[in-house]
This record gives sequence, C-alpha cells and structure tokens, in this order.
Amino acid sequence: MTQSVSSVNAFSAYRIFEKDGISSGGFIKLALDDIDPGEVLIQSHYSSVNYKDALAATGAGKVIRRFPCVGGVDVAGKVVGSSDERFAVGDEVIVTGYGMGVSHDGGFAEFVRVPADWVVPLPQGMTLFESMAIGTAGFTAALAIHRMEQNELVPEKGKVIVTGATGGVASLAIQMLTQMGCHVVALTGKDGEHDYLKLLGADEVMSRNKLEMGVRPLEKAQWAGALDAVGGETLAWLTRTMRQNGVIASFGNTGGIELHTTVMPFILRGVRLIGIDSAATAMPLRLQVWHRLANDLRPGLLRQVAHVVPFRKLPQIFPLMLQGQLRGRSVVAMNAEG
Ligand SMILES: NC(=O)c1ccc[n+]([C@@H]2O[C@H](COP(=O)([O-])OP(=O)(O)OC[C@H]3O[C@@H](n4cnc5c(N)ncnc54)[C@H](OP(=O)(O)O)[C@@H]3O)[C@@H](O)[C@H]2O)c1
Repeated sequence: MTQSVSSVNAFSAYRIFEKDGISSGGFIKLALDDIDPGEVLIQSHYSSVNYKDALAATGAGKVIRRFPCVGGVDVAGKVVGSSDERFAVGDEVIVTGYGMGVSHDGGFAEFVRVPADWVVPLPQGMTLFESMAIGTAGFTAALAIHRMEQNELVPEKGKVIVTGATGGVASLAIQMLTQMGCHVVALTGKDGEHDYLKLLGADEVMSRNKLEMGVRPLEKAQWAGALDAVGGETLAWLTRTMRQNGVIASFGNTGGIELHTTVMPFILRGVRLIGIDSAATAMPLRLQVWHRLANDLRPGLLRQVAHVVPFRKLPQIFPLMLQGQLRGRSVVAMNAEG
C-alpha cells in the first residue's frame, strides 16, 4: 500500500454468517487483516442495496458462495491504498459485481479491498452518491438497453415495456428509455405508484393486478422491447405478446425462476430473448456502459429515485425489498446520521 492505514484496526462491517445451514447477517468490528486481499483499498462513502443483497443477507436465496462474507455487491469511495499503478490514493472509484458480497468481502463496510481489475474510475461529471444511486441496478438497466440496441431496438419500432416497474433496475430503465425517445409502458403491482412512474417518464402504466395474460402460444403482439425484472409467468406472457423481431432483456426473477412458454414466439415472430448478467461483465464493456451512464443514458431524476439509508439502518431494508414494498433505489451512506 502506498499510504499507511495502520490506524484502521476496528471498522464496521455487515457480515453474513452461516450456522447449521442457515445464513444471517449482523454488524461486526473488523481489522484490515480480516478482509479479503486485493491491490486496492477503498474507504467506502456509499454502497447500495440490490435485490441480491437482500437475498444474501436474509438467506432467502443461496447467493453467498463463501462464509463468512461481508455483504454488499456495490461500493463507491476513495482509494486509501494501492499497490497497482492504475490507482492512486485519493482516486474516486466504483466497484460493482464480480465476487463482491458473494465470494469476496463486499461493500457493506467502512473499508473494502479488491483486486485492481475490478475497479472502475468514477466517470467524469458523476458524484460518488450518484454512482451508488445508479449502482448495480442502473448498470444492469444500461447494460440491458445497450444489448437491446445491439439487437436492433430503436424507439421507432414501437412500445417498450418495463416490468417490476417501481424497482431499482426498472425505475432507472424507465428514465433511460424515456430519454432515448422510447414509448415506455410500466407494469407494476403497486397501484398507488402510478404517478411516480409517470414522473419518471412512463407514457402508460399497467397494473399487474388487472393483467389478463391469456394462455395462447401467441397473444396480441404489443411490444417492440421488454425489460423484465420478474421472470416466471410475467416473462412467459412477454414472450407471447412481443411484436415481430421484438427483443426481451431478461435480468430478474422477483416473480419466479421458471419459464413456461413455447417456441412459437421465436420461430413465428423472430422474438429474441437475451440474458443480462451484470456481475460478470468484462471490463471493456463495463467501462463503456459506465461512460454511457455518465452521458447519453444518465438518469435525470436520480434524487427522486434514490433514498438514503444510514449504514446502521441497513438491515431494515432487506425484508421490505423481498416483500416488494420498496420504490426506487436505497443508497447506503456510511457517514449519515439517522
Ligand atoms: N441479471 C443481473 O445482472 C441483475 C442485476 C440487478 C438485479 N437483478 C435482478 O433484477 C430483479 C430486480 O432487482 P432490483 O434491484 O430492481 O429489485 P427491487 O428494487 O426490489 O425491485 C423489484 C420489483 O419487482 C416487483 N416485484 C416484487 N415482487 C414481485 C412478485 N412476486 N411478482 C412480480 N413482481 C414483483 C416489484 O415492482 P412492482 O411492485 O412495481 O411490480 C419490485 O419493486 C431482481 O430479481 C434482481 O435479482 C439482476
């Protein structure tokens, strides 16, 4: 390390343990020697809560691959030590995905140490807070849009539907698609949040509770594009209702992991179903997507979407997220009171 951080011998972290096959998380004091190795040591300013974090912290999903593990797939902060020439003390950086909070101690800690190959310099014009209001969720939304464009989605082709619309990924996707000039349809289970979704730019809001899905292999063709946070029956319905050459980006499973459909949408309408895996995105594409997030895909209403959670209140967020009660993004502030 280029700077002595020997004064850091007890910092707070939210660590996930396993006992008798059951995992659970809690705050703990750690020393630097206790966390995983890496060339870059970061003092965290912000982290964020993603659905995967809630699954990991509560044990509701088998997400953690190595116990104990500090949770948190995201972090943004300042470099306080680096043995890699690409990063210097004082640099503002972001880390999302890879093994963070899954197989490598993650972002729910005052200090995070990672391999230099995982570190993204904070894009010009973006603050650390903004980077975590975006976080894995916004990165996933932008990656999905980027991949849909590569699959020939353009606003002129027709309506784009976003499911799980009030969630973190979807709230940001709606803004990005709106800014691109797409006609956006938001599908939500929250009937009280239609105004919020219109504020984000949705042209139409559909209620999940009133949705008639039908059962035929092909239903009325409606969507040129679809971003799906939900999976299960919702994704099956999307495959049946895509227009000719429509493209679906599947990134989530809040409604289930199964997919029951037929080949008809694929062979008669040329529907493309593309998978989105943000965590494993290689660095060149990762940098390209973050560049877009700071420029043409920059979400204009981040303050409306993001709410701040003081670090010590982090555990309160997990059950709310799993119950689908949250709206937008939860940004974890390491130094906030409250
Ligand atoms: N593939 C990747 O790289 C990647 C990256 C990030 C996230 N994800 C996944 O994407 C999904 C969304 O993540 P997120 O961070 O945006 O989560 P989130 O903020 O909790 O949003 C999820 C939204 O899904 C909807 N929902 C919740 N329970 C549901 C149910 N039982 N049936 C149908 N809809 C339900 C809710 O929206 P409404 O109430 O508005 O319908 C909820 O707000 C998760 O499955 C997450 O694991 C994947």
